[in-house]
Amino acid sequence: MSQGIDLRSDTVSLPTEAMLAAMMAAELGDDVLGDDPTVQRLEARCAALSGKEAALFVPSGTMANLIAIEVSTRRGDEVLAHEAAHPFHYEAGGAAGLAGIQLRLVPGPRGVMDPDVVAAAIRPEAPHHPRTSLLCVEDTHNRGGGRIQPLENTDALCALARERGLASHLDGARILNAVVASGVPLERRARGFDTVSFCFSKGLGCPVGSILCGDRGRMIRARRMRKMLGGATRQAGLLAAAALYALDHHVDRLAEDHRRAQELAGGLAEAGFALEPPETNILVVAVPSAPAFVERLGQHGVRCFPVADDRLRLVVHLGIDDADVQATLGAFTAARG
Ligand SMILES: Cc1ncc(COP(=O)(O)O)c(C=O)c1O
Repeated sequence: MSQGIDLRSDTVSLPTEAMLAAMMAAELGDDVLGDDPTVQRLEARCAALSGKEAALFVPSGTMANLIAIEVSTRRGDEVLAHEAAHPFHYEAGGAAGLAGIQLRLVPGPRGVMDPDVVAAAIRPEAPHHPRTSLLCVEDTHNRGGGRIQPLENTDALCALARERGLASHLDGARILNAVVASGVPLERRARGFDTVSFCFSKGLGCPVGSILCGDRGRMIRARRMRKMLGGATRQAGLLAAAALYALDHHVDRLAEDHRRAQELAGGLAEAGFALEPPETNILVVAVPSAPAFVERLGQHGVRCFPVADDRLRLVVHLGIDDADVQATLGAFTAARG
């Protein structure tokens, strides 16, 4: 049965035939015993790409964030993050439930935090207060509509964190979208952060997999934590091969997703819809009664999610072509009635 045009998330993208062939050809070993050469190649490549000493392949972006938080905090600490941050909304409370920290949320337009506001949220040292020990930044920002973090701002945030004795983590689930759209390499975007994570299972089309990169000490602790969470897996090279294939073949093409998001935005604006201009592959559109509008779009073959009562989100990915963009524009006009 046809799934229609699925713009709910880039996580719905499927591995291509060529990616599956690369997976089938992967050299495998038991990664828990340190024997999988394909995982080792992926980890070395991602460490180099991100400019960090070491990397750890994990099953999901959620686990990467949880481990990143765990290795830079102690129980009872406070972690600063944007009020629309992924771990706050979509990670089942794992940061509190498993890492034992409390999140303190910072406002800011489309996921971008003002260093002065962050500075004001850092607790003074006193036995009454939790210790503020980590700052998390998300690039691109999911609920911020795929917003790319301005580099001078993340530099200022990282400098502030360092100065005030906080560690810093970059949730870069879609950082390769930011890299392609901005032309600024991953190593530079991640430079000031102690840890950075990114996902292969979003716009890059892999079935499973994320990576966490950082210094050797943190990555040793991260490996132990991954084991504790049940995320250490055996012949994981099968999945690492998909990630290596994606790094070779699916990164530059993210520019096509960004172009299609722009085309969708242009067409929708022309049709009278208000929207936030997309910077990457995510587009947030204002509609009256979003849940009902999403339902009507579904009847016209387009799937997406409401993100508020009056807004819905479209995410462009590997499985969306130019004809889908045109069909989506038609469905919006039809759904408006
Ligand atoms: C910004 C961000 N971080 C983390 C995640 C978690 O990734 P996963 O779904 O692989 O757990 C997502 C998932 O969409 C995300 O958008």
